[in-house]
Amino acid sequence: MFGKKILGTILCAAIAFTALTGCAGGGTKKVGISMPTQDLQRWNQDGAYMEEKFKAAGYEVDLKYAGNKADVQLSQVEDMINTGCKVIIIAAVEASSLGQALDKAAKKKIPVIAYDRLLMSNENVSYYATFDNYKVGQIQGEFVRDALQLDSTSGPYNIEFTAGDPGDNNAGVFFQGAMDVLKPYLDSGKLVCVSGQTDFDSVATPKWDSATAQARAESIIGNYSDKNIDAWLCSNDSTAQGVVTALDSSYNSEGRGGQWPIITGQDCDIVSMQNMLAGKQTMSIFKDTRTLAERTVIMVNQILNGETVETNSEYDNKAKKVPSYLCDPVFADINNYKEILIDSGYYSEADLA
Ligand code: GAL
Repeated sequence: MFGKKILGTILCAAIAFTALTGCAGGGTKKVGISMPTQDLQRWNQDGAYMEEKFKAAGYEVDLKYAGNKADVQLSQVEDMINTGCKVIIIAAVEASSLGQALDKAAKKKIPVIAYDRLLMSNENVSYYATFDNYKVGQIQGEFVRDALQLDSTSGPYNIEFTAGDPGDNNAGVFFQGAMDVLKPYLDSGKLVCVSGQTDFDSVATPKWDSATAQARAESIIGNYSDKNIDAWLCSNDSTAQGVVTALDSSYNSEGRGGQWPIITGQDCDIVSMQNMLAGKQTMSIFKDTRTLAERTVIMVNQILNGETVETNSEYDNKAKKVPSYLCDPVFADINNYKEILIDSGYYSEADLA
C-alpha cells in the first residue's frame, strides 16, 4: 500500500514537470536556433529574443549565426542535430541549401521549424513561423499607389525597384505582392520605370546587401539627369538604406524642386527609422521580432508537449505544404512610429536619435 502511494506521488510529480516544462524528464530540453547573419539588424533581435524566451521557459539554447554563409549554417545545424537538440529553428541563409541537414534531423525525429524564411524543396520541414510576406509587399505597393495618388492623378510618374536576395523565398513573395498592386499602372503607362528593370531577377539584391543595392542605384540614377524619380520600391530597409545613400550622393533633389522619391522599406531598422525622421525614407513595415519569437516558443512547446500545433496557413515549399503560422505585419511611417516602436518598448527615443 505504502509503495503504491510513493509510486503515485512520483507519477504525479513527473506529470506536473512535463506539463510545465514540456519535457518528459530525462534532462533539460534543448533547442537549436540557427540565424543567417548578424550583419542585418533584425536577426540579432530575433536570436536574442528567442534565446531569452526559451531560457525563461526552461530550455537550454544553442544559438548560432552563420555569417550569411550557407555552408557554415549547414555545419552548425548538423552540430545541433548531433548535440541533442529536441527542436531546431532555422532562418536560412539560402532556402534550398540545408536538405542534407533536414534529412538527418528527420532520421533522428527532430522537428524543424522554418523561421521567417521558408526552407525550400525538402519535405523534412515540420512548420513555418513567419509574417504574412505577400501582405508585406501589398502594403508597400499600396503605399506607393496612394502616395502618388495614382487613382486620381494623370501622371506619369517614374519608379524604380530594388528587391531582395534571390536565395530567400521571401524576396520573391514581397516583390510579387507589390507588383500585383503596381503592374496595372506600369501597363497603363501611369508608372514609368526609366531603367526598364521591372522583373525580379533584374532588381534582386544578393544577401539583401546595402552596398550592392547602392551600387545598382547609382548606375540607375545616371538615367535621371533630367528627370525626377518619383518613387523607389525597396523590399526591405537594408536595401532602402543603399538606395538612400546613392540618392544622397548623386541625386540633387533641390535642383528638381526639392522632390525626393517616395522610398519603401521593411523591418523598421534603426538606420531606416533615422532616415525616415530625416525625410529620406518614407515608410517601413514593423515585423515585431518579439511577436514572431513568442509564436515560435509556443510552437515548440506544443510540439514537445505532443499538443496540436496551432497554424493559420500553409506554404508550398516545392516538396510539401508546410503548416504555417503567419503573424501580421504593421505599416510604419512618421505618423505612427512613436506608438508602435517607442510606446511598445521596441526602441527607446535615444535609439532613434
Ligand atoms: C527577409 C526578411 C525581411 C528582410 C530580409 C533581410 O527574409 O523576411 O524582414 O529583412 O530577410 O533580413
